Amino acid sequence: MLEIYLDNSATTQADPLVVAAMVAALQRDYGNPSSLHRRGAVAERLVTEGRAAVAEALGVAPDEIYFTGSGTEANNLAIKGTAAARKGRGRHIITTAIEHPAVLNACRAVQDQGYQVTYLNVDEQGVLRVADLEAALRPDTILVSVMHVNNEVGSVQPIRQIGALLQSLPLGQRPYLHVDAVQSFGRLELDPQRWGIDMVAISAHKLHGPKGIGALWVRSGVQLVPLIDGGEQERGLRSGTENVPGIVGFGVAARQAHRERAAVQKRMTAWREKFIARIRSAIPSVRLNGPEHGAAPHIINLAFPGLPGEQLVHFLESKGVYVSTGSACSSRQPDSHVLRALGVPREAGAIRLSLSRLTTEAEMDQAADVLVAVVRELQRLYKGRG
Ligand SMILES: Cc1ncc(COP(=O)(O)O)c(C=O)c1O
Repeated sequence: MLEIYLDNSATTQADPLVVAAMVAALQRDYGNPSSLHRRGAVAERLVTEGRAAVAEALGVAPDEIYFTGSGTEANNLAIKGTAAARKGRGRHIITTAIEHPAVLNACRAVQDQGYQVTYLNVDEQGVLRVADLEAALRPDTILVSVMHVNNEVGSVQPIRQIGALLQSLPLGQRPYLHVDAVQSFGRLELDPQRWGIDMVAISAHKLHGPKGIGALWVRSGVQLVPLIDGGEQERGLRSGTENVPGIVGFGVAARQAHRERAAVQKRMTAWREKFIARIRSAIPSVRLNGPEHGAAPHIINLAFPGLPGEQLVHFLESKGVYVSTGSACSSRQPDSHVLRALGVPREAGAIRLSLSRLTTEAEMDQAADVLVAVVRELQRLYKGRG
């Protein structure tokens, strides 16, 4: 049966090279990096190599990479760690209304401890206006947390401009800039050093690496309080025996993504445009959620008026095409805070198709045909019930 997986923003299939390297780390090189004997030294070397590969893909120094158990944990460490470390300087945080729950709920948690959080709205394309951020800045703002690519609609936030704005503030008044780059790392250009970013959260399973391993890049000099107490691994910022196979897999996945990034981005951009044009010409009532131009090339969010997103997902699945209604974590909730922030009406059910570097043009063409057929079938069904 036909099987086309277009839910790569939820998670991806592990690359065979990733799996092979992880199996070796589990079976042969299974030592604890803290052990003093040879097995420990081999495991430590694997961690060093994984860290170097991730750092190179991000264009940063390896000793500024801290491995965590997920992108979610990396975001929590950035937000709660900053709140705790800078509480003497201020208790105000700025973020956006369209962040992933890993950021929104971490912000809510610090709010419960007495911090103030400003949730900035975005425009109808899902993009933050830098002027709104500028207006929200206060002398007691200690952190600005803005995602790079939105996981539901693919809007790309003006991180470079935000970084420049914050860098123009006097040093004593400058909040840290944290970027959730889980959806952009290895897929879009991101230059933390030159863009004035202080922390970047990333995750391996979005780029053909394993689940359960993420990382936070922390610019040297940035002060964070750890979330976890223990054996002081990751230079005291993230205790717990290192997930050596996960780090090895993350390194291989990051290296592959980094090597192919420019070529993949170029072809995906062309396929995304072609796909949207095909759907539009067959079903003119379709609505594209998110930016018309300048969106992340791997995310397409479409709404078909009158058709519930969940039903579309299941009809597509029955034809072998896997998509989602929005983010994987919130797809069990009927509503999307991101689409509401963009002003999309509640009744306009949406689906998200997301590509990876393993997606082919033939798959995109086939998926377009299946989608058109499914939408027409559902439209007939709903009209009949009318
Ligand atoms: C934008 C964004 N941030 C954070 C996360 C969480 O990453 P993880 O699944 O590694 O916890 C996701 C995953 O869906 C995401 O899309």
